Amino acid sequence: MKMDWKNLGFGITKTDYNVRCWYRDGKWGELEVSSSQEISIHMGATCLHYGQESFEGLKAYRGKDNRIRLFRYDENAKRMARSAKGIMLAEVPKPLFQEAIRKAVKLNEKYVPPHGLGASLYIRPLLIGTGPEVGVKPSKEYLFMVFVMPVGPYFKEGFKPVDIMITRDHDRAAPLGTGHLKVGGNYAASLTSVAKAHKNGYATALYLDAKEKRYIDECGPANFFGIKNNTYITPDSQSILPSITNMSLQEIAISMGMKVEKRAVPLAELNEFEETGACGTAAVITPIKKIYDPDENRTYTFGDGKDPGPVTTKLYEELVGIQYGDREDKYGWITVME
Ligand code: PLP
Ligand code: COI
Repeated sequence: MKMDWKNLGFGITKTDYNVRCWYRDGKWGELEVSSSQEISIHMGATCLHYGQESFEGLKAYRGKDNRIRLFRYDENAKRMARSAKGIMLAEVPKPLFQEAIRKAVKLNEKYVPPHGLGASLYIRPLLIGTGPEVGVKPSKEYLFMVFVMPVGPYFKEGFKPVDIMITRDHDRAAPLGTGHLKVGGNYAASLTSVAKAHKNGYATALYLDAKEKRYIDECGPANFFGIKNNTYITPDSQSILPSITNMSLQEIAISMGMKVEKRAVPLAELNEFEETGACGTAAVITPIKKIYDPDENRTYTFGDGKDPGPVTTKLYEELVGIQYGDREDKYGWITVME
């Protein structure tokens, strides 16, 4: 195996093993290890017809000491449990979720990229309804899987500012819909907006609230934040995914002596931000230099329109420093693998 660690993008790479667990007759079975990338399910499975599926995304990081670190994976377990409740999937108990993650990482240890290259092992837990139903109802059987792959930055720019575009003609999520859950349907609903942004040369789409189109929701596969007057400001909305990265940045901002505001963020406030960014596991922190609003035919520019701003840079260095074990984890976020 010869990996080109430095040029990894965010894509599928085959690794050696994945883990699986079936839910049948009202209970979870044993965790199984597989080296096949395929699954065999009934063509009537509820995940295929009615989108009864949830996934998660987290990463394993290799430190200078060569040890492998997981970042806040208890939070992913909790979020997947919330998603399960929201669309009536069988809930994966936290100990099973965490054991599956550790096992999938351990079995594929050699695919965790070396320290210092900005790459990591992306971990994708997936929970699907496998039982056949043709009426709209929850499945009686479920499959929980975890597969992993080494990745580089989600946005090819890495920690370089990107330009994004507001889209108003499609909504990713309804106000009382499933936007706050990590379920596949939200991503299907976002594809046209993201494709439109790409077609116009933008890294991704900025979604506004579906009801009034007056407030910022989130930003492609990531949450949005803005910085002004030593304050970290991030949208509070029922239809955005509560990002674990964002939660962590809010705590880091406070410990850097900043104020944090989680509240509705009117679009008009874009005029006032000194810096803006998108944050998430895959996106890490992706600084935003320009936001184009095609309906108003205007562009908001942040910072010098070229480099990441000073606050975004400080937040990024602290977050990534903790994840790779280069900075002290005073929050207790890291699990070092045995
Ligand atoms: N928003 C959406 C729509 C996402 O898909 C993700 C990725 O998981 C995030 C935000 C960021 O969440 P997290 O920081 O927990 O990865
Ligand atoms: C992540 O950041 O882990 C995500 O799940 C985003 C993904 C849709 C690429």
